[in-house]
Amino acid sequence: MKDVIGILDSGVGGISVLRKAVQLLPNENFIYYGDNQNAPYGPKPLEEIRRLSAQAVDHLLSQEVKALVIACNTITSAYASILRDRVKLPVIGMEPAVKPASLARGDGKVLALATRATLSLDKFSRLMENYGEGVIPVEGAGLVQLVEAGKADTPEALEALRALLLPYMSIKIDAIVLGCTHYPFLRRQIERLFPQARIFDGREGTVCQLQRRLEETGLLTRQGAPGTVSFQTSGDAETLARMRALFDADV
Ligand code: DGL
Repeated sequence: MKDVIGILDSGVGGISVLRKAVQLLPNENFIYYGDNQNAPYGPKPLEEIRRLSAQAVDHLLSQEVKALVIACNTITSAYASILRDRVKLPVIGMEPAVKPASLARGDGKVLALATRATLSLDKFSRLMENYGEGVIPVEGAGLVQLVEAGKADTPEALEALRALLLPYMSIKIDAIVLGCTHYPFLRRQIERLFPQARIFDGREGTVCQLQRRLEETGLLTRQGAPGTVSFQTSGDAETLARMRALFDADV
């Protein structure tokens, strides 16, 4: 086992989680792996998502990581419990921040944005059973592709968001859940369309959970040299450059 944490996503989205992880755990080393060649996972059938997830996990396990962070709501929903039966090392997943958003709701609604797979799987159904009052699930169709193509800050992305969210612009929206790790890169655009809404994502909870699990298992690195971050992808060299740029973006 090496002193390195593996973080994975279907593409670049998990970099939004990696940023938080590096801020909170500055002495840890991270390998980030994005299966960009196969993104998006969200619209794919469950069995295919599981197959691709297993492949992406194997890529990180072969590098003897000490813990795995699934920085993807879709992979967590489809594959985390299978993975936890498969491996002994700490596995930290994500869930859409429906609970804090619904607790912050006043007399308006909450929009829960996520991928098709995330919205259709058990984890989300359980969240809706417990905290779903006033929560409207919305599939973020096409959004992952925009972020993957490096278009998050473009007028094209703003127009796509406007078209997707138009039905909700005439009602009072108190909070919006970014239930996919790609969406924090679209946060500023979403805020332009819903300036009154509070925005929630699950990144901080995941990173705090990572810290707790590393502490419990005696694997936490608290001091020493600043940690390193390396990026890996099933995509091309251009994708790697985009990953580094997104890591430096302020989200
Ligand atoms: N970042 C992934 C998530 O959090 C995106 C999934 C996809 O590839 O569609 O769900």
